[in-house]
Amino acid sequence: MSFDVTADAYLSFMGRYSEPLAGLFAEWSGVRQGQRALDVGCGAGALTEQLVERLGAPAVAAVDPSASFVAAVQQRLPAVDVREAGAEHLPFGDAEFDAVLAQLVIHLMPNAVVGVREMARVTRPGGFVSACVWDHAGDRGPLATFWNAVRDLDPEEPGEATMPGTRDGDLASLFSSAGLVEVESASLTVTRQYGSFDEWWQPYLLGVGPAGAYVARLSSADRSAVQTRCAELLPAGAFEVSALAWCARGVVA
Ligand SMILES: C[S@@+](CC[C@H](N)C(=O)[O-])C[C@H]1O[C@@H](n2cnc3c(N)ncnc32)[C@H](O)[C@@H]1O
Repeated sequence: MSFDVTADAYLSFMGRYSEPLAGLFAEWSGVRQGQRALDVGCGAGALTEQLVERLGAPAVAAVDPSASFVAAVQQRLPAVDVREAGAEHLPFGDAEFDAVLAQLVIHLMPNAVVGVREMARVTRPGGFVSACVWDHAGDRGPLATFWNAVRDLDPEEPGEATMPGTRDGDLASLFSSAGLVEVESASLTVTRQYGSFDEWWQPYLLGVGPAGAYVARLSSADRSAVQTRCAELLPAGAFEVSALAWCARGVVA
């Protein structure tokens, strides 16, 4: 699934979580000075920026299939090589990178094993591929309240819980199926504050990702019903949302 939305819309919806996640994920993955790294599915550039801070812009490249995100990252980080491409066909030669990372992308790939194999192809032997995906299956992702409200009203809607990588252990087995070795996994958690229900709900109206696309498909009556159910499930006034991401890292043989 590509994201045909502006970087600003993405940042107000998912950037709240993916920006703080990126530093934790880069650290856990083992991104270290001297490496050359590729950010696959860079979105608005949360992880790309963390890679630049650690490695310097000339050592970082990024790709995304969404033209608006590519333009936004080119503007945000002008010295980075940013290209329009999906994980399945990376516009790089074999073994060009020490580290290839994908933050919150694997679950959106039409064929995740093909995508991870291609990430491994552009990584040198001994280098690593690393990925993280929210725990949508375990209801601990940032969108858990939203998808719970949807399921209360529309029990047949699977939301994002059946997507690859969203369940404990999924990413590690996917990495092994793609031929990576020494696969390790972990989880990372970020917490964000909201001042009100309205601040939490408004970004769902921006059409971002599977949740935004779901809201955009609803009639106005059904959208109001989801909004009301979400408000029932969340505390009144200010509240926090914690989000857990599964991570896996594997070495290229
Ligand atoms: C949830 S966003 C994550 C963006 C960014 N990595 C972050 O953490 O903020 C998912 C991104 O994956 C991109 N994407 C979707 N399908 C993809 C694919 N097959 N290969 C690479 N990127 C893909 C989308 O365009 C979008 O930018």
